[in-house]
Amino acid sequence: MSGHASTYQPKTGFERWLDKRLPLPRMMYDQFVGFPVPRNLNYFWTFGGILTLCLGAQILTGIVLAMHYTPHVDLAFNSVEHIMRDVNYGWMIRYLHTNGASMFFIAVYIHIFRGMYYGSYKAPRELLWILGVVIFLLMMATAFMGYVLPWGQMSFWGATVITNILAAVPLVGESIQQLLWGGPAVANPTLNRFFSLHYLLPFAIFGVVILHVWAFHTSGNNNPTGVEIKDVKKDAVPFHPYYTVKDGFAIAIFMILFAAFVFFMPNALGHPDNYIPANPLVTPAHIVPEWYFLPFYAILRAIPDKLGGVLAMFGSIAVLFLLPWLDTSKVRSARYRPLYRQFFWIFAVVCVILGYLGSKPPEGLYVVAGRICTVYYFMHFFVILPLLGFVEKTKPLPMSITESVLGAGGMGGSGTPAGATAMPERKG
Ligand code: HEM
Repeated sequence: MSGHASTYQPKTGFERWLDKRLPLPRMMYDQFVGFPVPRNLNYFWTFGGILTLCLGAQILTGIVLAMHYTPHVDLAFNSVEHIMRDVNYGWMIRYLHTNGASMFFIAVYIHIFRGMYYGSYKAPRELLWILGVVIFLLMMATAFMGYVLPWGQMSFWGATVITNILAAVPLVGESIQQLLWGGPAVANPTLNRFFSLHYLLPFAIFGVVILHVWAFHTSGNNNPTGVEIKDVKKDAVPFHPYYTVKDGFAIAIFMILFAAFVFFMPNALGHPDNYIPANPLVTPAHIVPEWYFLPFYAILRAIPDKLGGVLAMFGSIAVLFLLPWLDTSKVRSARYRPLYRQFFWIFAVVCVILGYLGSKPPEGLYVVAGRICTVYYFMHFFVILPLLGFVEKTKPLPMSITESVLGAGGMGGSGTPAGATAMPERKG
């Protein structure tokens, strides 16, 4: 699995016996104990671990919820209320799951923007990035279907809006819509299908995460300088204990934020209309998706044509697949790209504005602003990034990771010799 030599040494007779037959301990040791990690990773690199925790938490709480939930249009809403009121700690499990979805998206957005800032999608990590985009798409599909399950007003109308726009896609659109609906409109068969897929997709995500982790264990981590490890003994430290402790600390802080939502404001990120049972005869004044879909919803509505809107919305995610090739710069990290750094922040602000606009009714200035931001969104990828690689004057890169941390002499301010915390000798 790895791109580095094994440092595992079986100690007991049983370990040696197992190592010859099924070297699972060797693999775990090489990947999660002795794995060489750049010594300069900052806290933005803890989000991969945080995301793994989020995925595990969603699967666990989801399995318990599924024990008490009923996927039928006449019973679904009440079964969720039953979970909230009658099931032991059901309220907590449900709030962990609903807020867990939001926390998952907070973490994944930070993880994606970290990758964009430090150029982690560039060779040799293109496939790692692409697998990430696949995970992101699967996460969106899972979250969208999960939101339909409580069968509240927003569940029903959100599902109706999104499945209706799918029909605009030429050739396959209507078939996909029919497959999802299971009938002439969003109804009981739709709820059943969404429940089944909502249970299935997290395991598909789990599978792609394994490939994702495999890919980054093959290419190794990028780091804030974007300069690769040159001397593993100086530039890297073993994953354990250095990054297990750092990731553990970040996870603890993240869980405090998570707990603040679950215990003090469990409905702050949701929409009150979803506490009204679904009613196909009453359309809510404003149909809005969950916060994490808002930028894409704004892009969908920015285009006055139905098909154009669908294409722009899916295109805004699909463009991420091309990112490794649209960015023509030889330098990875924004630290050494003064112009890109500015455009990165403008892009981030545009995404936040799009999110805000997605929550507003599609009228007046909101529409104009939505169009401007949508054009900018695509310009960032198709015009700015390709051009920057040719016109930008980048800053000189450090000779090595160690130099960037300890200075050219290899000595830190405290007089720590370079490599004092370095990797152990490798064998085998
Ligand atoms: C369930 C969701 C995900 C999980 C569990 C996950 C897990 C991880 C882990 C454990 C790492 C290594 C630690 C780190 O760099 O933070 C990593 C790295 C990375 N991930 Fe993800 N990831 C997920 C989603 C994504 C998505 C959606 C993208 C991009 C669209 C992405 C792109 C990357 C890249 C480019 C790296 C390499 C970072 C570097 O070494 O600089 N990941 N991921």
